Amino acid sequence: MIPGNRMLMVILLCQVLLGGTASLIPEEGRKKFADQNQAGERRSPQNHELLREFEATLLNMFGLHRRPQPNKSAVVPQYMLDLYRLQSGDDVPHDSSFEYPERSTSRANTVRSFHHEEHLELMPGQRQDTQLRFVFNISAVPESEVLSSAELRLYREQIDTVLNWKEGFHRINVYEIMKASGRQGDLITRLLDTRLVHQNRSRWESFDVSPAVLRWTLQRQPNHGLAVEVIHLNETRSRQGMHVRMSRSLRPMYGDWSQFRPLLVTFSHDGKGHALIRRAKRSSKGPKRKKNRSHCRRHSLYVDFSDVGWNDWIVAPPGYQAFYCHGDCPFPLADHLNSTNHAIVQTLVNSVNSNIPKACCVPTELSPISMLYLDEYDKVVLKNYQEMVVEGCGCR
Ligand SMILES: *[C@@H]1O[C@H](CO)[C@@H](O)[C@H](O)[C@H]1NC(C)=O
Ligand SMILES: *[C@@H]1O[C@H](CO)[C@@H](O)[C@H](O)[C@H]1NC(C)=O
Ligand SMILES: *[C@@H]1O[C@H](CO)[C@@H](O)[C@H](O)[C@H]1NC(C)=O
Ligand SMILES: *[C@@H]1O[C@H](CO)[C@@H](O)[C@H](O)[C@H]1NC(C)=O
Ligand SMILES: *[C@@H]1O[C@H](CO)[C@@H](O)[C@H](O)[C@H]1NC(C)=O
Ligand SMILES: *[C@@H]1O[C@H](CO)[C@@H](O)[C@H](O)[C@H]1NC(C)=O
Repeated sequence: MIPGNRMLMVILLCQVLLGGTASLIPEEGRKKFADQNQAGERRSPQNHELLREFEATLLNMFGLHRRPQPNKSAVVPQYMLDLYRLQSGDDVPHDSSFEYPERSTSRANTVRSFHHEEHLELMPGQRQDTQLRFVFNISAVPESEVLSSAELRLYREQIDTVLNWKEGFHRINVYEIMKASGRQGDLITRLLDTRLVHQNRSRWESFDVSPAVLRWTLQRQPNHGLAVEVIHLNETRSRQGMHVRMSRSLRPMYGDWSQFRPLLVTFSHDGKGHALIRRAKRSSKGPKRKKNRSHCRRHSLYVDFSDVGWNDWIVAPPGYQAFYCHGDCPFPLADHLNSTNHAIVQTLVNSVNSNIPKACCVPTELSPISMLYLDEYDKVVLKNYQEMVVEGCGCR
């Protein structure tokens, strides 16, 4: 069975087993248990054991070895938040120049972001002001994930000092470092992407670095990093290198480096379920039929991640509506109970021979959710998880 399905089951099972004393209490029941807890919170060792097992099962489904314990200073890039928001059909992005990477996400169910190793920026004997090296440690991408593309994102900041708009052109070249030769400043590189920009605008620029990242992962070639070069085409020396925020040392007083520093974004697929296709805001379903409330139907079940203290590593959502299926599957089965011919026959047999059980009320349609979280290495990950939400129930 696909993990997502199991995940929902574990949540539901846990709900039943732990009752009020521990985790993931449904919204309806929360108040009651909160009152109980005021009398003195007591968790039996048995429940502790169960909770640990529950956590381990969930982490396994998330493909994590242990519970991430993110550094308090870990930064979630705005780009990842915007991707998450758009992906879940939630909101408009924060950044007006944001473009949803439709092509990349159509082949991926996981997006990961990386910052570079700042202490490796300068290569020995290198001309510091125009070219820098960016080494991204992407070893956090599990082997089970197949990478399909990657982009390097650089932020450039408007500089207003030129009087004539015919000045202020820059060329940004992005290279892969194929070999860092021993001799000073001697690099063997190949050009990956290039762009001509004018310094009259502030915005993020995205460069396609897929060929390099695919070589490092699929072909297991050594990762010597990327080199980025910014050439000021209309020489005004004082402004050299200031337009593109490549290094912490450039314009140090200006803005928040952690949000404007270069970012490597990888798109990969772990073979489980659908790609990150942009979802439309959920519309409410069609006209409601008058139904018998005790019949098989969908009920509300809000899973709050803060109940297991997971809100420190799950950035978004804070919790989600999982729903569950419950109710009677009476004889004769009505059409709206989404039954199968088999369920109809079983219910028929049950009506004459009670040794044969009735059909069960189970999920017949499930949908995925996206989650944004920090992994064990403080790397930010956006991932689609299959079959997390009940969309429809039926007698089966
Ligand atoms: C947390 O991050 C800060 C800044 O990056 C670093 O100085 C510190 O050592 C980190 N702490 C841990 C426990 O990794
Ligand atoms: C890369 O990161 C991993 C953890 O993700 C760490 O174990 C490894 O030492 C790092 N490698 C380098 C060269 O920094
Ligand atoms: C910025 O420069 C570009 C390139 O010359 C030009 O096309 C554009 O109109 C300028 N934009 C603004 C806001 O000045
Ligand atoms: C600045 O560089 C651009 C691009 O090479 C060129 O088209 C433009 O004429 C230059 N402007 C001046 C004033 O030299
Ligand atoms: C709803 O169905 C149950 C059997 O599943 C039946 O006992 C009950 O009378 C029905 N209620 C209404 C209002 O039809
Ligand atoms: C039957 O399935 C449809 C579509 O999956 C769903 O909208 C409907 O609510 C389901 N019926 C019940 C009783 O849950």
